[in-house]
Amino acid sequence: MSFIEVEHVSKEYISEGKSFPALKDISISIEKGEIFGVIGLSGAGKSTFVRCLNYLEKPTSGVVRIDGTDLSELKEAQLREKRQKIGMIFQHFNLLMQRNVLDNVAFSLEVSGMKKKEARKKALELLKKVGLEDKKKAYPAQLSGGQKQRVAIARALATEPEIILCDEATSALDPETTRRILEILKDINKEYGITIVVITHAMSVVEEICDRVAVLDSGELKEMGYVSRVFKNPHSKAAKRLIYDSERSVG
Ligand SMILES: Nc1ncnc2c1ncn2[C@@H]1O[C@H](COP(=O)(O)OP(=O)(O)OP(=O)(O)O)[C@@H](O)[C@H]1O
Ligand SMILES: [Mg+2]
Repeated sequence: MSFIEVEHVSKEYISEGKSFPALKDISISIEKGEIFGVIGLSGAGKSTFVRCLNYLEKPTSGVVRIDGTDLSELKEAQLREKRQKIGMIFQHFNLLMQRNVLDNVAFSLEVSGMKKKEARKKALELLKKVGLEDKKKAYPAQLSGGQKQRVAIARALATEPEIILCDEATSALDPETTRRILEILKDINKEYGITIVVITHAMSVVEEICDRVAVLDSGELKEMGYVSRVFKNPHSKAAKRLIYDSERSVG
């Protein structure tokens, strides 16, 4: 049994009376402690896929199992509990603008019932982990993009997740800052054994940190395998296009 099991998942959105297939019969298994990448062009279904992993988006059909639990069988309260173990970070950070850095991290702990003082103490430890201790009193508007993302990572770590989902987490950052954020993600993967799912359209991000990668195109899984193999010898048209185009734009 794999830690994350996605079996025959399809997702159809209904808008203006028409149904749109965003995911078509996707089956992917992700192992505990793995860093797994999902790549594809805009509109391929990447965000829909990660949102199905924590049931923010409920698949139209198919099964999502996390650590053996079929998410469709959970009641709303149980699902919320499960989601506590699945952190998420996004391109646009999603920080609380009215709260300082420390309270942004402490907030999710307070929501889960921890006393304010204790929550702040733990938040401070997490800020140390991401190298932002000295910014604890700053407000998000006073931070650079990379610093904001470090706050978001500290916040995601607060509830001691087993999984972190990253949806274009480095897309708004320059290459050097991206590298630093990826280093932090690699560290927490090693130190805490957290399974990480990385959604990106940047091939360099996948090469830098992922063990395996899946290629989505128009809602279909076109290819999946170890990063070294897929990048050296892509089989599918979709993978070839992504990889060769990115090489062209670099060279
Ligand atoms: N709530 C929704 N209602 C209707 N269609 C949607 C909805 N959310 C997404 N879609 C459609 O589903 C498809 C997949 O969207 P998704 O956001 O998963 O793509 P993506 O791969 O994350 O793209 P990007 O790289 O631009 O973020 C797109 O065609 C999108 O328009
Ligand atoms: Mg997306």
